[in-house]
Amino acid sequence: MGEAWGAPLVLLYLLALRALVQVSHRQLLSPPARGEEREGYLDNITAIGPRTVGSPENEVHTVNYLLEQIKAIESESTDAHKIFVDIQRPTGSFSIDFLGGFTSYYANITNVVVKLEPRGGAEHAVLSNCHFDSVPNTPGASDDAVSCSVMLEILYTLSKSSEPLQHAVIFLFNGAEENILQASHGFITQHEWAKSIRAFINLEAAGVGGKELVFQTGPENPWLVQAYVFAAKHPFASVVAQEIFQSGIIPADTDFRIYRDFGNVPGIDLAFIENGYIYHTKYDTSDRILTDSIQRAGDNILAVLKYLATSDMLAKSFEYRHGNVVFFDVLGLFVLAYPARIGTIMNYVIAAIAFLYLGKKVLQPKNRAINNLKKFFAAFGLMLLSWISTLVTVLIVAVFISLIGRSLSWYTHFYVSVFLYGSAAVVKLILVHTLAKKFYYKNTNDQYLGDVFFDASLMVWSVVLAMITRIGLCSAFICTLWVAFPLLTKLMTHEEFRQKGATMKFVVMYMLGMFVPYLYMMYLSWTVFEMFTPIMGRSGSEIPPDVVLAGFIVASTMILSSYFINFIYLVKSTKTTLITLTTVFVVTLILVCSGIFFPYSSDAANPKPKRVFLQHANRRFHDLDGNLVKSDSGIWINGFDYNGISHITPLVPEINDTIRTPCEERAPFCGLPWILPVHFMFRKNWYLPASEIFPASPIHFKVLTKELTPWNSLRLSFEVSGPSHMSLYIRPHEGSALSTWSLGDGTPVASVGGDYFVFYSRGLQASPWHFWIELTKFDYCDHTKLVVSILKPVSFDAQHEHESVIAHLYQIVSDMKVQFVYDAIIILTINLCY
Ligand SMILES: *[C@@H]1O[C@H](CO)[C@@H](O)[C@H](O)[C@H]1NC(C)=O
Ligand SMILES: *[C@@H]1O[C@H](CO)[C@@H](O)[C@H](O)[C@H]1NC(C)=O
Repeated sequence: MGEAWGAPLVLLYLLALRALVQVSHRQLLSPPARGEEREGYLDNITAIGPRTVGSPENEVHTVNYLLEQIKAIESESTDAHKIFVDIQRPTGSFSIDFLGGFTSYYANITNVVVKLEPRGGAEHAVLSNCHFDSVPNTPGASDDAVSCSVMLEILYTLSKSSEPLQHAVIFLFNGAEENILQASHGFITQHEWAKSIRAFINLEAAGVGGKELVFQTGPENPWLVQAYVFAAKHPFASVVAQEIFQSGIIPADTDFRIYRDFGNVPGIDLAFIENGYIYHTKYDTSDRILTDSIQRAGDNILAVLKYLATSDMLAKSFEYRHGNVVFFDVLGLFVLAYPARIGTIMNYVIAAIAFLYLGKKVLQPKNRAINNLKKFFAAFGLMLLSWISTLVTVLIVAVFISLIGRSLSWYTHFYVSVFLYGSAAVVKLILVHTLAKKFYYKNTNDQYLGDVFFDASLMVWSVVLAMITRIGLCSAFICTLWVAFPLLTKLMTHEEFRQKGATMKFVVMYMLGMFVPYLYMMYLSWTVFEMFTPIMGRSGSEIPPDVVLAGFIVASTMILSSYFINFIYLVKSTKTTLITLTTVFVVTLILVCSGIFFPYSSDAANPKPKRVFLQHANRRFHDLDGNLVKSDSGIWINGFDYNGISHITPLVPEINDTIRTPCEERAPFCGLPWILPVHFMFRKNWYLPASEIFPASPIHFKVLTKELTPWNSLRLSFEVSGPSHMSLYIRPHEGSALSTWSLGDGTPVASVGGDYFVFYSRGLQASPWHFWIELTKFDYCDHTKLVVSILKPVSFDAQHEHESVIAHLYQIVSDMKVQFVYDAIIILTINLCY
């Protein structure tokens, strides 16, 4: 086999597969299926503006808009159904272990609930959930107005139909999801219709536009996956996504968790995942969502809802509760789904066949068995060695890039990462095997080596297959593909290879045999990179994104190269390939080091903003005796990614490392007003002195009572009033402990670091917040620290003293894309003597 045609052929093969994957992701759709399109919901909801909980936009304007539309739909509905509408304003509290654990309290937030019921009534229901609130400073088109528009459209279609459904469909337009899942909790734990719900579909966004991915189903309840498989017209679903998401490495959560944990209802979680770069930014606008994309989501969800609402299984879901399902779509054309039990058996059978094949080959003829075995394990060892050394080499490059401050060079130009880390990985792999061929296998026949290394790869993947199946992961099906097809290919090409060696014909047959698993692996890698690359722009100041991405690239390289390693031994020379790839790597490295690839982009059509978190804060610190020891005001600045503010300083010199603020160790959560307990992800903070801020609803914080309980603990009760968003931190004094409180289920849940974090929010109207806590093992002058921070969305108008700096800052940062702007206050109240 000659290098001159072998290497380009492999490259061409991979590029062709890549192109096919691209085509499959772009083929959004067939033309609209329904004639009566009612457009404008999405534009009209986003036109209301950012919809934060507690703002009139969210609590009044959007709610009124939804009610009007529902009324209009009702007026056109047929007699087959009845439509009921309810506005719920729940108050409640719960603790979850998301982000290390915290507690949430909500008062009078808003849900708009619609029930579509067959005329004769229905005992069971299926729930469809979207949220109409948004984070500050974004029109929240994709997250999640588009889903609410799709739901209105579906309500319209179903209500116009004269065929009655068998069960009710409940549409929940929930008004507080960005407040970490409060509204869904209020609905599922308090609303009277919640008891009839047997399954749900949740419509979410982790990106903007594109296709919506089914990334979670269950727990268990395989019939739900079946419903999607049967009904969805343009499926996009993967159990791999489910297992990645449920492992917790993506810093996000959805209402799915609330329905599962507090409602005990199984469901399907769908999300738009494309273009996560602008998720939660002001660029999440309706014009960026293709009509195709909406149509596609609508077709899918309507079909699945209809299927569920006419299914006998919904009523008796408990009978079909058990078992997991392996499911994945094939290039968006159809979904394969089968019970995990069958998958397990299939996996073991295929692994066993592979082991048999390998065993037979290595152990025969008997007189050479020991020798064969030795050679086989040497090849196996070399494989592992080449992988480990590749990983180490590429990670060293990634760490170097992070240390010199060139992180995220590939954030806008993704192919930079492929040229940098991908070429380094391939060079290292080829180098190790070329050296092995040259020095270790001096006089061994190429054809024999090619064979042994193929077997070594097969062995690796058979072992991995058996192990992953043993652990119980459904994702093991990938390894099944990765063992079964190569084995078949091997058997198919065996004769040609034995007689003539690595001819062109052999190579072409080999590549054809590998077509399915390689195409699938490419498809999967594309989805993973599509999801994870944007997340690197908001993964905090602590994890170097280059190391993570380089790790992903090495893993993909290892997997995709595994059945081409044998070619290194078959090919006469690797020199040209090595020189070419090394040149690519070195040139890219030099360019990256020179800083030519600016990570972010303000390209209007396709922005990749840098995320910056700004809060205008006043802080007051008291000592344990209640004396004010320090107070200040400033703009608290948080870069959302590893680069911190390094790209801001050249533009706004005021923001530089001299204003880096240390963690205030004696105060909970570093003495900064977090909206969520994410202090462990953002350890680098900057604080630019600024004028004092006067929030529209100032905070009033009162200790109402202090009493000794008969069970000898100290109960303290409080009253707080203030703006729509507040956070409360609690740190009991050393020696005393927080034993119970009026929040959550009564058991206090500590956050990372041991302090307690309570997130408060309210709708437009709420009475003062009353709560109590109980301390045990206190002394009579307990020094429990209570920190209250108020957070309220604010816009930076010309109301500030340091106007020029702030206006300048705001302008620059808004070009770089501010994520949130809040104003905030922290008050530390201490010394609660009995
Ligand atoms: C959206 O708003 C426009 C302008 O006010 C109006 O003409 C249109 O009917 C609205 N569409 C819907 C579906 O609300
Ligand atoms: C909810 O709002 C009503 C008035 O609309 C008020 O009476 C009630 O106290 C509020 N509930 C809470 C928990 O704030």
